[in-house]
Amino acid sequence: MGILINPSILSADFANLESELAAISAADYAHIDVMDNHFVPNLTLGLPIVERLAKVSPIPLDAHLMIENADLHAPAYAEAGAASVTFHAEAAKAPVRLARELRSKGVRAAIALKPATPIEPYLDLLGEFDMILIMTVEPGFGGQQFLDVCLPKIQRTRAAISAANLDVWVQVDGGVSAKTIERAADAGANVFVAGSAVYSAEKPAAAVDELRQLAQA
Ligand code: DX5
Ligand code: ZN
Repeated sequence: MGILINPSILSADFANLESELAAISAADYAHIDVMDNHFVPNLTLGLPIVERLAKVSPIPLDAHLMIENADLHAPAYAEAGAASVTFHAEAAKAPVRLARELRSKGVRAAIALKPATPIEPYLDLLGEFDMILIMTVEPGFGGQQFLDVCLPKIQRTRAAISAANLDVWVQVDGGVSAKTIERAADAGANVFVAGSAVYSAEKPAAAVDELRQLAQA
């Protein structure tokens, strides 16, 4: 399974997003954190900005929707041009129906789990998704500390995917840095979101390379 590095623009300069995206053109996807001030206590950006970013980004967009009423709102992000749309398990009433709707719009469909949400209820549904996002912080803010307590959930998720012989990606998001990425990779993650580790580095492109090398090791 390939290693993917998806920098989060949450830690980028919001007044210069086009050049901030250009700075990570060697990454795999640009991770876009959509927050609605209800599902999480923070507000970032929504559809009109995602639509514009999809047009100017050199790499595909990985939209992480931290929003209520995902069933209602997530499909519009597929139409806005995101290549991958992740909704939260805690915010979706019918995750299988929603994932099928997203896939029917030609995007990758992913489900995200907060640290306290178990993977077990979803183990028989893994094939309905292209990616499972295991959060390694409480969603809402960049720059938090990686939660090692989430590592066993990554392991159980990867083990179930392998046992079922599925091609489902496992993404980690939150506190991923040169210090923590190897632990996440060893546990079975293959897609790594990093916000502050990339955008607070002097050279974001070099930070992407370093994370990729560590994850591959
Ligand atoms: C947190 C967001 C993350 C955030 C990660 O709710 O989902 O994508 O940008 O930031 P770092 O990498 O700084 O923890
Ligand atoms: Zn995110």
